[in-house]
Amino acid sequence: MGYNHFRELSDEDLASVVVYLRSLEPVHNSLPKSVLPFWLQHVIQSLPEPITAPVVPPDTSSPVKRGEYLVRIAGCSECHTPEKGMPPHPIAGLSFAGGTTFDEVASPNITPDPSGISYYDEALFIEAMRTGRVKARGIKLPMPWPIYKNMTDDDLRAVFAYLRTLKPVHHLVDNAAPPTQCKLCGQKHGFGNRN
Ligand code: HEC
Repeated sequence: MGYNHFRELSDEDLASVVVYLRSLEPVHNSLPKSVLPFWLQHVIQSLPEPITAPVVPPDTSSPVKRGEYLVRIAGCSECHTPEKGMPPHPIAGLSFAGGTTFDEVASPNITPDPSGISYYDEALFIEAMRTGRVKARGIKLPMPWPIYKNMTDDDLRAVFAYLRTLKPVHHLVDNAAPPTQCKLCGQKHGFGNRN
């Protein structure tokens, strides 16, 4: 549950989510009370304190600003910025540079560096998000493209405009290559040994 990202929704956006949930058909389905495993209790306790002050609407005066808000609430950094430590914290200098490992794949570098997605243009980005393919190459889950594909063209353009402003970070991650140890992010991923 991406609470740490969703908490940044503006009051107005959050209120709209509530209005939508209230419009769903009620379903009777009693579930047992959740019991958190011990390690998760620890993680939950280390999460940021609740926000209690009003959250004003985001600055949407430019596509880059709007894109920044969308990227924040969509939680892109959750997977694309590698973490270390306990409780986990983002590795300094590797923002959006990939390396978080999942069962079959690692998150790629989505900064505008040549080792990232410098070769993307807006059309390719929109196509990738809509179809889950970068030309011949499929984008596997857990990349949530089946959710992001429903964003409007304007939203996706704004997300791409913001990604283009990210600091380019050199960090090779290639899921077509066998996983090898990476000294930058501390994980094992394709081309890790070339970093
Ligand atoms: C739950 C984790 C997760 C989240 C959240 C996530 N991604 Fe990804 N993303 C991945 C993984 C893993 C891959 C690699 C998939 C593969 O190689 O098959 C990926 C692949 C991509 C690619 C393809 C890059 C390439 O290799 O050509 C782009 C672009 C991308 N993500 C952008 C985003 C953006 C923008 C967001 C937020 C709107 C986002 N991702 C959110 C995990 C995630």
